[in-house]
Amino acid sequence: MKALLRESFYLSLLLCLCFIHRSFGATDTITTTHFLKDGDDNVASTGGIFEMGFFSPGNSKNRYVGMWYKNISVRTVVWVANREAPLTGGSGILKIIKPGILVLVNGTNHVVWSTNTTRSVQNPVAQLLDSGNLIVKEAGDDSPGNLIWQSFDHPTDTLLAGMKLGRNFVTGREVYLSSWKNEEDPAPGDSTYHCDPSGYPQNILKKGSDVVYRSGPWNGRSFSGNRNSREGPSYTFGVYSSKTEVYFGYNLTTSIIVRLTLSHNGVLQVWTWGDGDQGWIPFLLIPADNCDMYKLCGAYGSCNSQDSPECGCLDKFVPNNSDAWKRKDWSGGCVRRTELNCLQEDVFLKYSHIKLPDTRNSWSNVTMTLEECRNTCSKNCSCMAYSNSDILNEGSGCLLWFKDLLDIRQGPNGGQDIYIRMASSESGWLVAT
Ligand SMILES: *[C@@H]1O[C@H](CO)[C@@H](O)[C@H](O)[C@H]1NC(C)=O
Ligand SMILES: *[C@@H]1O[C@H](CO)[C@@H](O)[C@H](O)[C@H]1NC(C)=O
Ligand SMILES: *[C@@H]1O[C@H](CO)[C@@H](O)[C@H](O)[C@H]1NC(C)=O
Ligand SMILES: *[C@@H]1O[C@H](CO)[C@@H](O)[C@H](O)[C@H]1NC(C)=O
Ligand SMILES: *[C@@H]1O[C@H](CO)[C@@H](O)[C@H](O)[C@H]1NC(C)=O
Ligand SMILES: *[C@@H]1O[C@H](CO)[C@@H](O)[C@H](O)[C@H]1NC(C)=O
Ligand SMILES: *[C@@H]1O[C@H](CO)[C@@H](O)[C@H](O)[C@H]1NC(C)=O
Repeated sequence: MKALLRESFYLSLLLCLCFIHRSFGATDTITTTHFLKDGDDNVASTGGIFEMGFFSPGNSKNRYVGMWYKNISVRTVVWVANREAPLTGGSGILKIIKPGILVLVNGTNHVVWSTNTTRSVQNPVAQLLDSGNLIVKEAGDDSPGNLIWQSFDHPTDTLLAGMKLGRNFVTGREVYLSSWKNEEDPAPGDSTYHCDPSGYPQNILKKGSDVVYRSGPWNGRSFSGNRNSREGPSYTFGVYSSKTEVYFGYNLTTSIIVRLTLSHNGVLQVWTWGDGDQGWIPFLLIPADNCDMYKLCGAYGSCNSQDSPECGCLDKFVPNNSDAWKRKDWSGGCVRRTELNCLQEDVFLKYSHIKLPDTRNSWSNVTMTLEECRNTCSKNCSCMAYSNSDILNEGSGCLLWFKDLLDIRQGPNGGQDIYIRMASSESGWLVAT
């Protein structure tokens, strides 16, 4: 009888432990009593899409807290918490503590990484969502406005659907991608990808402080000079501007798996997961050709990847330094073959199929008509060109350039119209008088 009692005691203890283990094993939440420990069960989002745990990239022995797709056979890390503060031993613990911060501690309880908060809550929890966003909030408070912290505001090298790449003017925060140092070190490398709202929004790829590639301004339908339209069969993407924020992002409208990454060698890629091939299929790669190299052809130069050499001058422009130009040193760009003389009437000539020049020094007004735009430009001798800012419908809005026009591509497959200031004697196709 005693033995039977003891056995049933052990049995129920075992059952109880199993139950605890199971219920914790499936959790998507880190609480003040349940942590994420290296070597223990990972945290997984409720739909089983993403998973978080400790990992070591490549042959590295360092331990990182990362996030990857749970259901994909190739381990694909989309986010790293302590990218600059690796653990050297396998005894890390990710905890949530008051007033609402995530802390990563090592085996001797030293904090190696933590999040920030400006608010304080009673019962903070961290939850991994099926979108791949790790959020910190007060337990039970699901109001999006009350989030304390979210990993979507601190991406590493991957832009997931629903993330906002850009600037929030209220908080002053900029969210941008930064590459890993190399395949075994997730610390920030020298490539970054930004949605730059200065002038007029465009995406910019940088190496250090140098611009390497520019998407062209968002024209309502796509990036100027890019053929991909804002709505595809399974996605929408775009640049969204308001008084409080400007950001680039994409949403998925079917259950396909897509990610945008910035590799350690500065290549921007969009990938989809191929269930059949069990592999990632690249469908966009930038830079794709020499014409993607920022201002390859200099001011008023025009790049066309179908031409050899790629660089030419816009019609009615000539090389600024023709000896250098012959040596394929295009950096000096082109100048008007007939100089402007603003005191006499200048005109504006229309150039078509143009990837609009760098807008970082441009001026915009999204309610002006093209006519008002031209009038505004013609009144100021340093205004070099104008165009619609939005090409949807009949076109609307106004973009003005006050500096030399940089980083133009021209080709039959994309682009839009721009009107460039010229001496009146050049008015072969007169657009304005
Ligand atoms: C996991 O992947 C398999 C095969 O790729 C797929 O059939 C299944 O629907 C996926 N499950 C989830 C939850 O995504
Ligand atoms: C934890 O970090 C502290 C401070 O860097 C260090 O002195 C200690 O040795 C580390 N402990 C382990 C187990 O790595
Ligand atoms: C926390 O805030 C400090 C100061 O504002 C900043 O230097 C640090 O990078 C922040 N840490 C994280 C993880 O955001
Ligand atoms: C994605 O969907 C959210 C929520 O509906 C919306 O606020 C956001 O503007 C959308 N973003 C894109 C890129 O379509
Ligand atoms: C033309 O070349 C001169 C001297 O090399 C340079 O100062 C000037 O900026 C160039 N013009 C343009 C439009 O790039
Ligand atoms: C933009 O243009 C409209 C006219 O279309 C004008 O009423 C408005 O004041 C302009 N805004 C700015 C900031 O110049
Ligand atoms: C022309 O535009 C520039 C740049 O916006 C400005 O600095 C300058 O004052 C303007 N000149 C006139 C005459 O309006």
